[in-house]
Amino acid sequence: MCGIVAYIGNKKCKNILVNGLKRLEYRGYDSAGIAILCNDSTSEGGNCLHRVKVIKKAGKIGALEDELENIDIDGVCGIGHTRWATHGEPTEVNAHPHTDCSGNIAVVHNGIIENYSELREMLTKKGHKFVSQTDTEVLPHLLEEYYDGDLLTSMQKLVKKIKGSGAVVAISGYNHEEIIGARIASPLVVGVSRDGNFLASDMPAVLEHTRNFTVLNDYETVRLTKDKVEIFDPEGKLVNREPFKINWSISSAEKSGYEDFMLKEIFEQPYGVKETMRGRITDGRLNFSELNLSTQQIKNLKKIQIIACGTSYHTALIGKQIIEKWAKIPVEVDFSSEYRYRGPLVESDYLLIAITQSGETIDTLAAIREAKTKGAKIVAITNVVGSTMARESSSVIYTHAGPEIGVCATKTFTAQIIVMYLMGLYLGKIKGYIDDVKLKELIEELNFIPNKIQNILNRANDIKHIANKTCGHTCFLFLGRIYGFPIALEGALKLKEISYIHAEGYPAGEMKHGPIALTDKRTVVVGIIPEDFVYEKILSNIQEVKARKATVVAIATEGDNKIKEYADYVFYVPKTMDELYGILAVVPLQLYAYYIAKNHNRNVDQPRNLAKSVTVE
Ligand code: AGP
Ligand code: GLU
Repeated sequence: MCGIVAYIGNKKCKNILVNGLKRLEYRGYDSAGIAILCNDSTSEGGNCLHRVKVIKKAGKIGALEDELENIDIDGVCGIGHTRWATHGEPTEVNAHPHTDCSGNIAVVHNGIIENYSELREMLTKKGHKFVSQTDTEVLPHLLEEYYDGDLLTSMQKLVKKIKGSGAVVAISGYNHEEIIGARIASPLVVGVSRDGNFLASDMPAVLEHTRNFTVLNDYETVRLTKDKVEIFDPEGKLVNREPFKINWSISSAEKSGYEDFMLKEIFEQPYGVKETMRGRITDGRLNFSELNLSTQQIKNLKKIQIIACGTSYHTALIGKQIIEKWAKIPVEVDFSSEYRYRGPLVESDYLLIAITQSGETIDTLAAIREAKTKGAKIVAITNVVGSTMARESSSVIYTHAGPEIGVCATKTFTAQIIVMYLMGLYLGKIKGYIDDVKLKELIEELNFIPNKIQNILNRANDIKHIANKTCGHTCFLFLGRIYGFPIALEGALKLKEISYIHAEGYPAGEMKHGPIALTDKRTVVVGIIPEDFVYEKILSNIQEVKARKATVVAIATEGDNKIKEYADYVFYVPKTMDELYGILAVVPLQLYAYYIAKNHNRNVDQPRNLAKSVTVE
């Protein structure tokens, strides 16, 4: 996975490309490069040939930016790439763009070419010279091989030859007035503006230039000139597709004074939660028609299967508890990567829900494609309009958290939880398990959630203090029961992902079945301890770790004074209903992970070895 940006228009493209790459850096960040068509040209065989200037650097975009500072390039057509290596080390030579033998065709690519070694062998036999270890390098050579005066037709031939996934964008010195792109199962959006046109891996890359976008479908190709966008279907026929407008603001893709995107996004949660409820709860009524299921279909539902990865998987676990409790429909939860290969049983009265903030995670995408072949109805819950899963599902429910740039999912998580609550209520109401009184009570409480999250955020310094005191420990166990258990998993994932410290999430009752052996004075146990029906039980679990000298941090409910006897540090969250506790309890855990990581000088927005959306298996 990586980031691609390309521009052709009236403006010089160097800075447009670099700024676009900076916004995409979260997708991959081990090396970066650009290729620009220079204004100077030579004549070859009577044709005008423009010089393709390629500049690339290993390391972060900053290294490329420094390199480019003293290079003046006037070109108005170019492509850029930030890489997350899959084939070949993150060196300068492996960085994109890659060129053909003549240096006249330059290509950037996101994804993996599964048949690259046979293609490389075939091309080598034909005399092509390779310089890198990447799979990508076969692409410019293939285009060179197929080139007969039109780069678009070469690209269309290439798309048919490639196995695997990818988005490919190319320019050539043979025609300085076009950029050619193709989508082979990896995201590529087209941005349209009066000053030129863009291709990018996702919309925030070019949000400062346009809010008008269109998306490509798999195996489609596109020709961009400065005032025209032509999209072609896999058979090469011109497609008529109007751009849509998105309402994300430019500041939503900037840090706006915060030190990191992650911190900014944590603080945006009251807004993301409110936006996700907006229009779905009006005047105490629930509107969830997006689910696109008739009353009868809902009444007939025999089972719901939820699939997701990482943080979205934790939302799925919350969804299971909520739907089973409120709607009494059995729910199975799977990691997407497991679901696909375990031969799941799917029947026509099952519903498959895919939760994915990006809408592009390949494991989840492959799983829904698998389920589709078995006749399942698929609902996607995603934050990205026009994303692949939004388009490939029978219906889509958007979270409205705004673009999430930090690799760590924060505001999209709480927005996803809101969708699960609303869905649980909606299904429960239709199935007749939730009456009007209960519905009113739950909706009233949901409406308080944004303010309650704000109340927690206002006390971020208290969490910072606890983080400063405990950041030297080497093992963290996050414990919760029932609604607190998925939150324990999420707290542990946040911490390990951005601080690189060992952390585990467990149902508190499981401690005595193994993990308690880890406990000693180097351990911090973070307990999620609401005053619910298992309160006393979790207190016993906490006592057990305390007796083994662990330091205890408790996330407890306002007014619970007893907890102070058990915990070294307590952070209080406002009172709410048991089922809604998770959405509040996760906020201090996000802040806790953030401040511990900052104590260790980690780059929280771009943690090592990770990428924002994982588009390779
Ligand atoms: C969360 O902090 C992670 N970066 C990661 O686990 C993420 O949740 C996972 O890759 C799933 O992504 P998705 O929601 O875009 O499908
Ligand atoms: N497979 C390509 C490479 O390793 C592209 C990886 C990516 O998507 O960043 O260079």
